[in-house]
Amino acid sequence: MASLLTFQDVSKVYRNGVHGLNHVTFSVWPGEFVAVIGPSGAGKSTLLRSINRLHNVTGGHILIVGEDISRARGRHLRMLRRQIGMIFQNYNLVYRLSVLQNVLHGRLGYMSSVQGMLGRYCEEDKRKAIGILREIDMGDFLNTRAADLSGGQKQRVGIARAFMQEPQILLCDEPIASLDPSSAKIIMDMIFAMASRRRIACVVNLHQIDVAAAYASRIIGLRKGKIVFDGTPGELTDGVIEQIYGTAISQLNVKERAI
Ligand SMILES: Nc1ncnc2c1ncn2[C@@H]1O[C@H](COP(=O)(O)OP(=O)(O)OP(=O)(O)O)[C@@H](O)[C@H]1O
Ligand SMILES: [Mg+2]
Repeated sequence: MASLLTFQDVSKVYRNGVHGLNHVTFSVWPGEFVAVIGPSGAGKSTLLRSINRLHNVTGGHILIVGEDISRARGRHLRMLRRQIGMIFQNYNLVYRLSVLQNVLHGRLGYMSSVQGMLGRYCEEDKRKAIGILREIDMGDFLNTRAADLSGGQKQRVGIARAFMQEPQILLCDEPIASLDPSSAKIIMDMIFAMASRRRIACVVNLHQIDVAAAYASRIIGLRKGKIVFDGTPGELTDGVIEQIYGTAISQLNVKERAI
């Protein structure tokens, strides 16, 4: 079985000299649900942004389905990016457009830029978008402006757009950080169920250790740009958590309660 995503000795040094990632190596396999945890500034977003080339890495290679995206250009880069769906903390929707139009944007990577600009989606894409919106209980909001939705509803549209793209791997950067606990659970359940149904691998950055442990088949702990833990939720002991966060568990609990 081939890996969907491989980091080979990847480093990212920002222009100001900060090491966002420091010699990171790991692979993600079909069907995996990987949570990436670590303190603020550990490099979680840097890691996700490197995968679909929202920025360039400064060392090593990143392979998507066996092909080096870190060196790809033009049409090849576009083709590899189709394999990678993204869900963001702040949804990244086009707020003046309808729910349906936002979801159809998931197909842009498959269209010419002129077709995309004119919003010329085929009937099959429209049917598919409506099907996905029904699957996440948003079938009644097709023509609602994205601006008029609640946070949880906006994130559902973000999820629908990502799945509309039919990626092989889904990247989520703090998908629930802006939501209240009950919306957060609905969103995590939806991402998990939709990805499992389609056998899409997920890499999800999370602040909440309990959420990571509840959903992930595997947890990667980052600290100062390095992987300091890579294992199952069962292996995530208090000692490991302290190592990842560089602070005593009791301190972490106090911080969590204070938030
Ligand atoms: N554009 C940038 N230029 C310079 N340094 C950056 C840039 N983006 C991130 N960094 C630095 O890289 C390190 C990793 O940042 P990153 O955003 O990846 O952390 P994170 O784990 O996602 O944190 P958080 O949990 O707060 O989202 C931090 O020290 C950060 O200040
Ligand atoms: Mg981040």
